Amino acid sequence: MSEALWTAVDDYIADLLIPADPALEAALAASREAGLPPIAVAPNQGKLLHLIARLQGARNILEIGALGGYSAIWLARALPAGGRLITLESDPKHAEVTRANILRAGLSDVVELRLGRALDTLPQLIAEGAGPFDLIFIDADKQNIPAYFTLSLKLCRRGGLIIVDNVVRKGAVIDADSLDPDIQGVRQFNKLLAAEPRVSATAIQTVGVKGHDGFAFALVTADL
Ligand code: SAH
Ligand code: DHB
Ligand code: MG
Repeated sequence: MSEALWTAVDDYIADLLIPADPALEAALAASREAGLPPIAVAPNQGKLLHLIARLQGARNILEIGALGGYSAIWLARALPAGGRLITLESDPKHAEVTRANILRAGLSDVVELRLGRALDTLPQLIAEGAGPFDLIFIDADKQNIPAYFTLSLKLCRRGGLIIVDNVVRKGAVIDADSLDPDIQGVRQFNKLLAAEPRVSATAIQTVGVKGHDGFAFALVTADL
């Protein structure tokens, strides 16, 4: 198995199941033109997030890590009238690209972007009483996933879902001796997840246009 084959299969799936969408395509093009790294979720992953948000009946969604707003657009489009999405982003340039992409997608009234490090903005959201959220998507820096998960538990309702991107990292996650802080972050998060009695969780490996990686899913089963 090779990345070329995984990519070809992703393209095949996207061609069949993911209709061309001007706002999403424009968001990717603008992100590319602005020099943002090509690390948004893949189209079929974006649609998976969208479908999960709809299954969840999500009205309040929190995203940690906006980049250019690609996954935010997928998620925001799952919201019913009156729903909202808050996305957290620390890089001013990424935030600017996200704002333009959200505006172009016609979602400026639905999506609120908060500029700042999520370790600062998450406690602000808690202090404001911004929650509870029905769905939280953690997709920022990987060292801080444990902290983001812990803070997310304070913001997520019972029955809410926390999804974490990039929990496999080409399989490096199983290397306990890894010196990579991203890997240590993911491993520490997995330990927290395993020990957390208030969630029921799993993780799924993925291959595709983004290589070999994975998502973790944690359903909040008890009041927090
Ligand atoms: N969710 C996006 C991809 C996010 S990439 C999508 O799929 O379309 C990760 C993003 O997290 C980057 O834009 C990066 O600037 C941001 N980020 C990194 N560290 C952060 C921090 N401490 N707080 C908030 N955002 C951060
Ligand atoms: C990286 C970050 C991501 O969120 C992702 O999905 C893929 C790669 C990265 O920082 O390399
Ligand atoms: Mg990611």
